[in-house]
Amino acid sequence: MSNKLPSISETTVAVVGLGLLGRGIATCLLGYGFRVIGYDRSSEAYVTARRYIEQGIGELVEHANFDPLLKQAWKDRYQESQCFDDLAPCDFVIESVVEDARIKQEVFSQIEKVVGLAVPIASNTSAIPITQLQETCQHPERFLGMHWAEPAHVTRFLELIRGEQTSDETVEISVALARRCGKDPVVLAKDSPGFIVNRLAYAMYREALLLVEEGVADVEMIDRSFRNACGLWATMCGPFRWMDLTGGPALYAKAMKPVLPTLSSATKLPDTLLRLAEKDAQGILNGQGFYDYTPKEAEQAEALFRKHAWNVRQLTDEYFPLEEE
Ligand SMILES: NC(=O)c1ccc[n+]([C@@H]2O[C@H](COP(=O)([O-])OP(=O)(O)OC[C@H]3O[C@@H](n4cnc5c(N)ncnc54)[C@H](O)[C@@H]3O)[C@@H](O)[C@H]2O)c1
Repeated sequence: MSNKLPSISETTVAVVGLGLLGRGIATCLLGYGFRVIGYDRSSEAYVTARRYIEQGIGELVEHANFDPLLKQAWKDRYQESQCFDDLAPCDFVIESVVEDARIKQEVFSQIEKVVGLAVPIASNTSAIPITQLQETCQHPERFLGMHWAEPAHVTRFLELIRGEQTSDETVEISVALARRCGKDPVVLAKDSPGFIVNRLAYAMYREALLLVEEGVADVEMIDRSFRNACGLWATMCGPFRWMDLTGGPALYAKAMKPVLPTLSSATKLPDTLLRLAEKDAQGILNGQGFYDYTPKEAEQAEALFRKHAWNVRQLTDEYFPLEEE
């Protein structure tokens, strides 16, 4: 495998699965000048993705000073594909179908039948161990995890995860691709379910649900406290820098000791989460979540999130400029 990608305009990336994340990933790649082949099994997904990309490219022009010509130019570099065979010419594949190991592995097997041997295949799984996913691959050395975050064309976040069989070349190419599309990639030293960010987040969600179930505070109060405290520093630094800024290990060793035994270490899903999941609560998608949403409220919540994501991106780029590729 060559550890180089062609120039951006000559690099074709296939995005398999054009749902919430896949369409954002396609937007990001098209925004930065790559050729993109989008594949999904649902015809509706193509329509939604096209609308999303159009809007996302507009945001890149408006908020990140991308060339206004991009508003037309991406269309020539974007191909919608209804058939795996169309993926044959691509240089890199990003899979972003539903979070189900069996379905993902079936998709990898289809992809491996058509793409070249040297083409890396990255999975945007949120939490499935990469070593497990690559077990059924014909060429597991070109397989890795590439975990994006919503909105994928705005965030700098990208976790790259090597499984036990992933080659160094695959990781190197993926780092180069990530840098070329405005990301600040982190390569994990070890595969671990949930990787970095979802492990931290799931531990925090579990604790938030425990606070509700123990009657300490309601959902709205917890959200408000979190936003006003962690929301302030989490856009500037991580937990370790934050501890250093506010007393350091000496203080935290004292403060945490009596609290740790009271924190949740449950291994089963909290009842509050299960009850809502059983009702198919999909948050703003169907108006039912920890809060209820009218269609207008759902739209407003989404719009505020996008505006905020751009503000954070701009601040982060100012404080911590990205390395040039
Ligand atoms: N939602 C998030 O915030 C988030 C963040 C990071 C990673 N992820 C991960 O990204 C992946 C996709 O998540 P999403 O939120 O975009 O889901 P989604 O349900 O919005 O999209 C999944 C898409 O995959 C398509 N699909 C399903 N099976 C397919 C198949 N066999 N072949 C081709 N297309 C198929 C569906 O039609 C759908 O368009 C998951 O692995 C998820 O865990 C999600």
